[in-house]
Amino acid sequence: MGDMELRKIEYGTPAYEETIDLRNEYFRKPQGMDIRNEDLTGDAKVNMYGGYIDDCLMATVFYAEKDRATAQVKALIVDEKYQGQGYGKYLMNFIEGLIREKGYKKAILQGRVSAQGLYEKLGYVPTSEVFDYNTIPHLWMEKDLK
Ligand SMILES: CC(C)(COP(=O)(O)OP(=O)(O)OC[C@H]1O[C@@H](n2cnc3c(N)ncnc32)[C@H](O)[C@@H]1OP(=O)(O)O)[C@@H](O)C(=O)NCCC(=O)NCCS
Repeated sequence: MGDMELRKIEYGTPAYEETIDLRNEYFRKPQGMDIRNEDLTGDAKVNMYGGYIDDCLMATVFYAEKDRATAQVKALIVDEKYQGQGYGKYLMNFIEGLIREKGYKKAILQGRVSAQGLYEKLGYVPTSEVFDYNTIPHLWMEKDLK
């Protein structure tokens, strides 16, 4: 793992626009969709973090409050070039740390089945059946933060 710098990203800034591009690349374009056609105003309430190497955005991880006790992890992406080097795990541990600090008792996520193994390694357990989201199989998972 090289030197990744984590930065908080504010809604509506140029850095935020870059996260839209990254999310589009990994979450929508493969399905022929464009995230910019969606209502993204809810992002204003999301806590967004970017991973940078050599000043270039190469990863994202977000969380948002679901209820007073629960936070939802969102938008875990590591650019292809950097996958398989531990960054995904590092970002999950980072965001869980923040969620814990804020006093939430549980982290939940809507994960791709293709990434289920990663989340299970980190202690998440399935809480739903598998369902299609934008044609991709997903499931809900959660982890108690003790
Ligand atoms: C999923 C993703 C974030 C993983 O990031 P990564 O940096 O490659 O993952 P890491 O290198 O930190 O892997 C951590 C551990 O999880 C395992 N792992 C990683 N991806 C996995 C997968 N898809 N299935 C099962 N295990 C996986 C690794 O083998 C590693 O195990 P280890 O700790 O025993 O060595 C990355 O592949 C990605 O961005 N994919 C495209 C977007 C995406 O699908 N995001 C998830 C949406 S729910």
